[in-house]
Amino acid sequence: MKILSIIGARPQFIKAAVVSLAIEGHNSSVTSRLSLVTEIIVHTGQHYDQNMTHIFFEELEISRPRYHLRIGSGTHGAQTGRMLEAIEQVLLKERPDWVLVYGDTNSTLAGALAAAKLHIPVAHVEAGLRSFNRHMPEEVNRVLTDHASELLFAPSETAVSHLYREGVAEHRIHLVGDVMHDAARYYGARAEAKSGILQEMGLRTKDYILGTVHRADNTDDPARLWAIFKGLMHVSDEMPVVVPLHPRTRAALERDGLLEQVSKRIKLIEPVGYLDMLMLEKKARLIATDSGGVQKEAFYFRVPCVVLREETEWIELAESGFSVLAGADSSAIACALDTMKSSGSVRDVSLYGGGHTAQEIIAILKTAQATRT
Ligand code: UD1
Ligand code: UDP
Repeated sequence: MKILSIIGARPQFIKAAVVSLAIEGHNSSVTSRLSLVTEIIVHTGQHYDQNMTHIFFEELEISRPRYHLRIGSGTHGAQTGRMLEAIEQVLLKERPDWVLVYGDTNSTLAGALAAAKLHIPVAHVEAGLRSFNRHMPEEVNRVLTDHASELLFAPSETAVSHLYREGVAEHRIHLVGDVMHDAARYYGARAEAKSGILQEMGLRTKDYILGTVHRADNTDDPARLWAIFKGLMHVSDEMPVVVPLHPRTRAALERDGLLEQVSKRIKLIEPVGYLDMLMLEKKARLIATDSGGVQKEAFYFRVPCVVLREETEWIELAESGFSVLAGADSSAIACALDTMKSSGSVRDVSLYGGGHTAQEIIAILKTAQATRT
């Protein structure tokens, strides 16, 4: 079976890494060459800075992409259109049995659309998530990708119910859990052994707040961006606040003339590699984020989380009290951080599978392939 994986943005390198590991594991366990799974990695080049892409390939030991499309940044139409054209060429040449796409970025949509038009079946990892906010580019990407997919790998019961409600045939939906749980488990142990970020930054365990901000809704609107950083600055007198800054957010702070003012109160650092990030998350007292991946990692490491959005696709976390939605309101953010500081929730709850999602995905793909041929 030949799988072609399409990745291009930071969280996709992490998600794909554990699926690649599962493919390697599968291949080392089979006795017949016919049962081997071949993976071809296509990197769209949506993210391209050293610390947004290369560092992940090095640290996570992902195979080099067979194709690097070097699409780069652009408006949604231009970026997605360029990807679509370039991916089509690769698909025509490689003719894989399956195209595997991850999450909800423009790379995801371009991959799904290019494959579906060539009648190559698409498998979507992280299917069924919904924020019900069509203003988010990610919501448009995920809805369209789900409906172009043959196999939908849902991380939660809620995601499954969204797909049912939208009329997706039951036999195409598989509740498999979250691949990022696999990643947090596997690389989390490695991070403990390898990352020295706390010492390098002079941070003490459970004595700092970790923040990330990158959503277009938050960065493109100066009022929301300022409110978020004001909320974080408010608590920075009590406890250091560390923010690895996404390039989009750095540019937005520069645009609004806020970079210097914010950097006096908050430790703004360049984006870090995955091992350092996991370590920063594990040892933080609190996490404040608008990232999907970081919300879940906070839960996996049982660090209370304040979500810098009005809604979340990972609704179970908010419903069970592991995270709090504070939006982009500076007082609500400061207040939520203060309240969550003393919450110390360590309940043993499993929400997104047991951390063996990648293996399950490969097993389902193998079965689906056997029925097709
Ligand atoms: C994208 C995804 C988002 C995901 C995020 C993960 C879409 C629509 N959005 O958002 O769902 O959560 O990736 O991080 O696909 N830039 C650089 N260097 C880079 C990459 C980006 O400087 O290596 C800057 C460019 O100015 C670019 C901007 O960041 O215009 C935004 O990058 P883009 O990939 O379009 O969207 P993200 O905000 O990264
Ligand atoms: N991440 C990282 N370094 C950073 C910031 C984030 O390795 O400086 C990791 C984080 O641990 C998570 C993933 O990137 O696994 C989340 O990506 P991002 O927040 O960019 O996107 P989202 O998950 O919101 O789509």
